[in-house]
Amino acid sequence: MGRSGTNSGPAEDLLIELDRDAGVPLHRQIEASIRASIRDGRLRAGASLPPTRTLAAGHGVSRGVVVEAYQQLVAEGYLVSRSGGYTQVAASMPPADADAGSAALTAVSTAQPVARSVGFKVDFGYGRTDVSQFPRAAWLRSVRTVLATAPNDRFAYLDGRGVPELHQALCDYLNRVRGTLAVPGNVVVCNGYGQGILLLIQVLARRGARRIALEDPSSDDDARVLAGAAGLDVVGIPVGPDGVQVDALDLADADAVVLTPSHQWPTGGVLSAEARAEVIRWARRRGAIVIEDDYDAEYRYDRSPVGAMQGLAPDHVVYCGTASKTLAPGLRLGWLVAPAHLVADVAAAKVLADRGSSVIDQLTFADFLGRGEFDRHLRRMRPVYRRRRDALLDALRTHLPDLRPAGIAAGQHVVAWLPPDLDEAAVVAAAARHGLGIQGVGPFRIAGAGPGGLIFGYATLSESAIAEGIALLATAIREVGGS
Ligand SMILES: Cc1ncc(COP(=O)(O)O)c(C=O)c1O
Repeated sequence: MGRSGTNSGPAEDLLIELDRDAGVPLHRQIEASIRASIRDGRLRAGASLPPTRTLAAGHGVSRGVVVEAYQQLVAEGYLVSRSGGYTQVAASMPPADADAGSAALTAVSTAQPVARSVGFKVDFGYGRTDVSQFPRAAWLRSVRTVLATAPNDRFAYLDGRGVPELHQALCDYLNRVRGTLAVPGNVVVCNGYGQGILLLIQVLARRGARRIALEDPSSDDDARVLAGAAGLDVVGIPVGPDGVQVDALDLADADAVVLTPSHQWPTGGVLSAEARAEVIRWARRRGAIVIEDDYDAEYRYDRSPVGAMQGLAPDHVVYCGTASKTLAPGLRLGWLVAPAHLVADVAAAKVLADRGSSVIDQLTFADFLGRGEFDRHLRRMRPVYRRRRDALLDALRTHLPDLRPAGIAAGQHVVAWLPPDLDEAAVVAAAARHGLGIQGVGPFRIAGAGPGGLIFGYATLSESAIAEGIALLATAIREVGGS
């Protein structure tokens, strides 16, 4: 491997020894070679890699082979794509995790995004968005506009709600696309859903709430921990194929419920119109609050849109949105649309938490929304994710027809239910031994038992990596004793 001692421009060459008789795909060999060089320090942080065309020509492979290898390493966090079209070694290396055994997976007991895929040949870990597709050029145009035009007083301390330009731009977008009834005065900008739920739990607890209901299973490990810390009881409401089972809410004696009604996490169900109306009636009867986590509604492939619940009862529903799925989780941009009577308290909690989110980011996002760049970005990304989802479903149909995919019409992940004779934990552990990262549904259950299922995050994987992952899973399942 040639040493790359400069980060001033693309390198010309890189030693990669390809074994064409090894039976290992060439892109995998390139990936493994670059990964190893980064790990052992031969390629240091910031080093430039040759353009894909140059490397491909130098090794007698097609450019697509090199592109695929680079893309996989970008997804794993080893490489970053730079504007100008060249690729560099990332500033920091993904943490070493050579142990691809079951211990690596048991550590991942929460749905919170797993930062990188490490130690696996293929990782279906949930919670990643394809950040290599971040619309850098359009974002930069908005940053420039903001820096050139924002009035000075926007750079001073703000109140806890954020900048007015973003409140207006979010209302325009959400009312148009999500069917909310949002007004600028009720929007609070926060650092993603993670902070939004923190602020809401603090406010509800201070106002005397005693118990919060969560979907079971749900991703809300954060909410569980935060509610406990705030002295609230947590109760799980069972989820069926169409989302949360509303009749169980009546028995829960809760002051608030957290729902993912447009695409239940993780099972993918959509709460029906009747169930939504029933939840709203419950909230009105009890004076309770519905917290609507609308985390991935923008990605919808083959079903008609389902509007946000907030539009049905803006006085009882807090709408929570995030840019983590649509743009990048690293932006830490989220928003709440709260009933009027909660807004001041939520804004005060935000001030206490961090004095407000970055003004430049907020103004940039407002400009980006206003120019229609957000819509354009989503239009570009939907077919990308759809192709990855289709590749996943095709591979499952071919190699694992006994698994039952669910909630496939939207989002960036799919759950597949296991036949009753397959033990979920055993499958997850066997998959890890074969180099496949995947999570089961079990760790996300509140009350414990339920059918076994696997969660496939597919957003950052190429179609060939998805096919390879399912082939690994099929081997693991054969080993465990299933079909
Ligand atoms: C159900 C659910 N809601 C929201 C989010 C987004 O969280 P945040 O906005 O804090 O990044 C995630 C992230 O994976 C999620 O799984």
